[in-house]
Amino acid sequence: MNVLVVGSGGREHALTWALLQSPQVKQVFCAPGNGGTATQARCTNLPIGVSEFEAIAQAVTSHNINLVVVGPEVPLAQGITDVLQSQGIAVFGPSRAGAQLEASKAWAKALMLEAKVPTAASKVFQDAAAAKAYVRAQGAPIVIKADGLAAGKGVTVAATLDAAEAAIDDVFSGTFGEAGNLLVIEECLQGAEASVLALTDGKTVRPLVPAQDHKRIGEGDTGPNTGGMGAYAPAPLVTPALMERIQAEVLDPTLKALQNRGIDYRGILYAGLMITPEGEPKVIEFNCRFGDPETQVVLPLLETPLIDLLLACVEQRLDALPPLAWKPGVSACVVAASGGYPGSYEKGAAIAGIAEAEAQGANVFHAGTQQQGNELKTSGGRVLAVNCVGGDFDRAFAQAYAALEQVQFSEMYYRHDIGYQVRTAASAAPNP
Ligand code: AMP
Ligand code: GLY
Repeated sequence: MNVLVVGSGGREHALTWALLQSPQVKQVFCAPGNGGTATQARCTNLPIGVSEFEAIAQAVTSHNINLVVVGPEVPLAQGITDVLQSQGIAVFGPSRAGAQLEASKAWAKALMLEAKVPTAASKVFQDAAAAKAYVRAQGAPIVIKADGLAAGKGVTVAATLDAAEAAIDDVFSGTFGEAGNLLVIEECLQGAEASVLALTDGKTVRPLVPAQDHKRIGEGDTGPNTGGMGAYAPAPLVTPALMERIQAEVLDPTLKALQNRGIDYRGILYAGLMITPEGEPKVIEFNCRFGDPETQVVLPLLETPLIDLLLACVEQRLDALPPLAWKPGVSACVVAASGGYPGSYEKGAAIAGIAEAEAQGANVFHAGTQQQGNELKTSGGRVLAVNCVGGDFDRAFAQAYAALEQVQFSEMYYRHDIGYQVRTAASAAPNP
């Protein structure tokens, strides 16, 4: 088979890499891909943007592509699945209607309320005065969210009423475009976060191993939010008993509520969860796609061929599949970013040492990289992720950090404390 992966991040490189593990997959095409997918054997980048649906449909015909796998949320929210399916193309990823789960927080909240899915109490606002009166009545801390897609920048966890009011003004000032037409104000949840990515064919939903992301830029979980600076899996915080509750209280009822709305959802249902101090799983948000960098830690543990899972979702036979098989051990991943990210940063720095990192047994998943002639250059904020699978977290992270030390580019930044939750104190001590 030939598969087309839509997107250009580390997630898409990991998807490409995992798909190519199956002899059944002859060739992967990436639209537009990155410097890693450009040099991967049996992979070809196509110069097509993620929102160019007609060009994607033409590529499907001209390259005899059997399945399209959509990485990012933006084309899903724009209806890529609806457009391609109407032309008879098989797509992994929900329709525009299903993608509202991520693209409108107000819509997702209404669905959760209807499905009795545990989540933070919330209220939706269309104007700043009413929103401010509400936060004054509620008190701080409180969470302010732009309704729509805001590239991870639309959420403020406000410690004070002043910060909350400033965030309300920010959303309604047009900073987030249409994403800021509505505002959701939420109760601030306490606890530890975990990411549960689940496969669904619209009838059955099956979780992958739970993962832990590290959203903040700074060590000790400080500073602004990023797309994610590192991850590990399986996250021990999500015990098997808790996963059963997540299945029964979150995943199954959410799928049922989607079905009740007539939505045929085939793709990833990603629950971003807060596990409260009482051990309750509460949904912070849903995403309608694979997580990044969670995908870069989860897929290296997957023993069942990824292509079999994606096809079972698209062909609605997930219930007939045997239980998912996982490799022994644990998976660690550390992201290297351009200095300045998530603020402004330079692009075009030469990257060295990737072959050396790979020679140490690491998977290097590219994100913001671009192949220019024979040279690999930085082209984004998150540049690449180094992943290692090991017998335990101390070993997996030690190996990932040793491999990462082989990689060099100007102003390279990474957190030294990824996985601090699961590493022993000696191993997790920040490197000088
Ligand atoms: P989101 O973009 O919805 O994932 O939110 C970004 C981050 O904001 C989350 O990963 C949490 O760390 C934090 N957050 C969002 N909603 C809440 C909430 N209700 N309570 C506490 N933290 C939250
Ligand atoms: N790692 C967070 C996300 O993919 O949204």
